[in-house]
Parts: sequence; structure tokens; C-alpha cells
Amino acid sequence: MTGGAGYIGSHAAKALHAAGYRAVVYDDLSMGHRQAVRYGEFVQGDICDVHALRDVMRRHEVFAVMHFAAFLDVGESVREPVRYYRNNVGGALSVLEAMTAEAVRYFVFSSTCATYGEPIETPIVETHPQRPINSYGDTKLAVERALPHFERAYDIRSVALRYFNAAGADPDGEIGEDHSPEIHLIPRAIDAATGGDPLQVFGDDYPTPDGTCLRDYVHVTDLADAHVKALETIVEIGRSGVYNLGTGHPHSVREVIDSVARTVGRPVPWTLAPRRPGDPAVLYAAAHKAHAELHWTPRYPSLDAIVGTAWNWHRSHPKGYGDR
Ligand SMILES: NC(=O)c1ccc[n+]([C@@H]2O[C@H](COP(=O)([O-])OP(=O)(O)OC[C@H]3O[C@@H](n4cnc5c(N)ncnc54)[C@H](O)[C@@H]3O)[C@@H](O)[C@H]2O)c1
Repeated sequence: MTGGAGYIGSHAAKALHAAGYRAVVYDDLSMGHRQAVRYGEFVQGDICDVHALRDVMRRHEVFAVMHFAAFLDVGESVREPVRYYRNNVGGALSVLEAMTAEAVRYFVFSSTCATYGEPIETPIVETHPQRPINSYGDTKLAVERALPHFERAYDIRSVALRYFNAAGADPDGEIGEDHSPEIHLIPRAIDAATGGDPLQVFGDDYPTPDGTCLRDYVHVTDLADAHVKALETIVEIGRSGVYNLGTGHPHSVREVIDSVARTVGRPVPWTLAPRRPGDPAVLYAAAHKAHAELHWTPRYPSLDAIVGTAWNWHRSHPKGYGDR
């Protein structure tokens, strides 16, 4: 699991462990946390290092790779495309190169709804045109587009999972979200409610019922489960695929603020900021394909359940993992 010390990867490691797999987490800790690796062995390394990757694959007899490692701050990707292309495209290429050299045949890729760009229609189906509007989305699409070539040439079977907005935390409270800087709405709203900086709401004049953007928040534990199902599907059926992972139910920024205020029991101070360029009004998934083919059904689809688990984690870990 590249990037297994990060937010989604650490939850996927727990899900893999529960399903009886032996995970090896490979992460350079540039954004992740050593303490987030509770399940599986840890190897510190860079995904751009093909030699080190091959060594880990050989030593641990790796049979499949889940590739979470990437940079994911959209704004930063616009300012620093070199870093994003090097890490997200170059890094993925190194991983695939090491896999071909070590005859590892299964690849589960963390893709994103950002590969769709401005939606033409919602809910978004997998066949929706992919026209990213920032370099982050483009780097992920570049990897998705490479995968059929790697399948033809090297027989690597892959699943690209296009996550919508990952949110929430492990319901057992063992692991959670700790990005720095934090770029995601729910932890930022929790921070604002508990004395941090007021939340900035980017635009309230969108063509939505309350004027704020609508997004599809999907529980991180549900994403983790989808990885196990995706892996089992490619191993058993041998068919590569692309799947949206979302609940199919969008929520506005104001609804999230209300849910956080209810859950925390305190108001969420917020200020209105201008719209951000490239923020579509509405983004949510049609996730029927994942339901039908991966037999995946979210266990925590309600916004209050997502916010509740996030609050549980932040309340017991006010400084996150405390290592930054
Ligand atoms: N969080 C979301 O809402 C979301 C939505 C869509 C897609 N994704 C994708 O999911 C994946 C995981 O996201 P996350 O939220 O868990 O992010 P994260 O930053 O918490 O985890 C990424 C991990 O990758 C590691 N990493 C980065 N560059 C590396 C390198 N060169 N070598 C080794 N390790 C490296 C980091 O240290 C970190 O532990 C990413 O690929 C992201 O693009 C996330």
C-alpha cells in the first residue's frame, strides 16, 4: 500500500487486515503519519524509487498494489504542477515499472472525481467526459489513461476508484484525518466550532437550494471496504474497471455546517469568501456500477454519521497524530 500512512490508506489497511490480508505500507511520511500505520508492516520510502519498490515487492512477496500515494491539494497543484506531475504521474509510473519487473499483476488506483472537471450532468456516471480543470485532476487522469496500456503490454489488471469527497473517521476511533494544512470541509468546520479560525465559505450564490456548493461525502471506512472488494474482484474475475465511489446524495456546505454544529453542540463561525475558480456548483456520484459489480454498499451513508465519526476522532485527538 503506497501512501498507507495517509488518511484513506490507513483506513484501507485496517479493512485489509480485517479481511485477512497481510499489508505492507510503503510511505515516505511526507504527508502521512507513522502512528497511522496500525495494521501491517511499515517501510519508509519514496514511490519515485523503483529500486526500493522492487526490493519491498520481492522481500514481502507482494501480489497486489494499492496505490494511494500522491499529492492532492488542488490549489497547490495549480501553482506547482512540476511537483504534482513528478509525484502523481512519475511516482505512479515508478510503481507500475517496479510491478512489471517483479511480476505483480494487480493494481488498485486512487483516482478522483476531479478527473471529470465541470460536470455536464449529475449524478456523474463513469462514462461522463473527463476534462479536468486543474493539474491535480490531470495527473490522476494521466495515470488512468496509462492503465490499459500496462494491461495490454504487461497483463497488469487494474481498478481505478474515483472517490468523491472522503470524510469521517474510523468508527472505532483508532485512526482519522490529519492533513496539514487541512484542506477538507468537515475537519475545518470542526476546528472552527472548537475555537480555531472561522470557516471560509467560498460563495453562496451558486444555483443550488441554499446557494452553497453541493458535494458527495463518502465515509472513509466505506472507501476502505471498496478497496478490499475491488481487489477481490480483479483477482477473482480478472477484469479491469473504473468505478465511482460516492453515496449518490449531495449535501451543501451549509448542511455540513449545520451537521457539525449539531454534532459538536456549538455554532460553526464562518465568513463568506469569493467563489474559488473551478469549483463546480454540484458534484455527486452515480455509484450504481460499484454497487452492481463490486457488491459495495456504503455502511455509513448519512452525513450525521460521517460527521459524528469525524468529531469522535477530533475530540479525542485535538492535535491529530501530534507529530507536526
Ligand atoms: N481525500 C480525498 O477526499 C480524496 C478524494 C479523491 C481522491 N483522493 C486520492 O486518494 C489518495 C489518498 O488521499 P488521502 O486523503 O489519504 O491523502 P494523504 O495525504 O492523507 O495520503 C497520501 C499519502 O501518500 C504519501 N506520499 C505522498 N507522496 C509520496 C511519495 N513520493 N512516496 C511515498 N509516499 C508518498 C503521504 O506521505 C501520505 O501518507 C490520493 O491519491 C488522493 O489523490 C483523495
